[in-house]
Amino acid sequence: MKLWKGRFAKEIDSKVNDFNSSIAFDCRMFREDIEVSLAHAEMLGKTGIIPQSDSEKIVAELQKIRAEIDNGELLFDYEAEDIHTFIEAELTKRIGDAGKKLHTARSRNDQVATGLRLYLRREISAVQDLLIALVDTLCKTANPHFDTIMPGYTHLQRAQPVTFGHHLMAYVMMFSRDIARLRDAKTRMDEFCPLGSGALAGTTYPIDRKLTAQRLGFFGDAELTNSIDGVSDRDFCLEIASGLSIIMVHLSRFSEEIILWCSQEFNFIELDDAYSTGSSIMPQKKNPDVAELVRGKAGRVFGSNIALLTVMKGLPLAYNKDMQEDKEAIFDAIDTVKLCLEVFAPMIHTMKINKETMQFAATSGFLNATDCADYLVKKGMPFRDAYRITGELVAVCIEKKTGLENLPLEEFKVKCELFGEDIFTALKLENCVHNRNCEGAPGRRGR
Ligand code: ARG
Repeated sequence: MKLWKGRFAKEIDSKVNDFNSSIAFDCRMFREDIEVSLAHAEMLGKTGIIPQSDSEKIVAELQKIRAEIDNGELLFDYEAEDIHTFIEAELTKRIGDAGKKLHTARSRNDQVATGLRLYLRREISAVQDLLIALVDTLCKTANPHFDTIMPGYTHLQRAQPVTFGHHLMAYVMMFSRDIARLRDAKTRMDEFCPLGSGALAGTTYPIDRKLTAQRLGFFGDAELTNSIDGVSDRDFCLEIASGLSIIMVHLSRFSEEIILWCSQEFNFIELDDAYSTGSSIMPQKKNPDVAELVRGKAGRVFGSNIALLTVMKGLPLAYNKDMQEDKEAIFDAIDTVKLCLEVFAPMIHTMKINKETMQFAATSGFLNATDCADYLVKKGMPFRDAYRITGELVAVCIEKKTGLENLPLEEFKVKCELFGEDIFTALKLENCVHNRNCEGAPGRRGR
């Protein structure tokens, strides 16, 4: 059924019908569309815009329709233009004239803007829950490893010693901000309810926007809304998509490290068999496909984010059909992030940590060089001079193929008289880590 039949003399071309239709992907919003319609119908009854008896009929039948879609009894008609059209047509088929009254004082424009917000509200909560589970896994994985020394890197070159626990907690910070970012986007999205904006200019009926907004869980003051803005903007999608993109940035960096760490070159971790794959030709292979796919899927989420920005860029107010393109992009971004988080957390939870290899790796690469310079500073030397002397000592070590901690004291003294026996305590990796005690550092007090 076409909702806009009256004006047209011809049926829509069937290819155009398919092209125009969004039900194949917006059908997943059926619960939210019905929720919006329930609130609207109740309001229409309460305000006397339609008879209370019609409102009750609509409400009862919409609830039935929802239950029947839920249990598979009622199937979507993919010939319909979108989920909104389908539900309204189904309602009218069942209850006749009362059903035809549901669309009084509303438009699909405010309907879809509201329904999509409700859908995203739920989905954001689901993503947040998955992030919380990941943070929980990370904290538990980090906990026994606050004394597990590993090389910290800059430029992927060994830099200073840190602990594996400290390294994992960096990701806890990132994912915690991701949770907060989604919360912020959700709060802004939940402020104003677009229902009542009509097609773009509100309505002449005495609707009660406060009632519908409250019923649908929006908290902002209905008087502060603007009907054109209500149906025109999709900035909530843009914010969510960019929040999701940032999650994927974090996941992809973590994935990259997992991939490096489980290579034979690093051998810091071993992924569980259940989270690895083999090769069809090389019998010895155990590949980190999960981490690689997560890294790869980042591109897909960024793509959705860019698609949304591009769809919205330069659109004149108010609603334009371009905006129907918002759904597949935001749905795919959410689905992808959820999928990644669902496999990522258990992959971390089940991986084996090769503590000894990590600690051994930290013994080469002059991770204690900064501490050597700091030693001289503590004896009164300006940092830049201490830095130069330590650099010279590192050069001596490279030549002798040894580490600073293995140089005899005399070699130190050749470069600077300030060195004493206690340099060897200062150079011990455990001390290098645990003396880093400022807030946020890997030392015992800093965690
Ligand atoms: N399926 C449409 C969308 O997602 C619903 C709004 C249609 N409004 C219109 N004026 N054609 O954007």
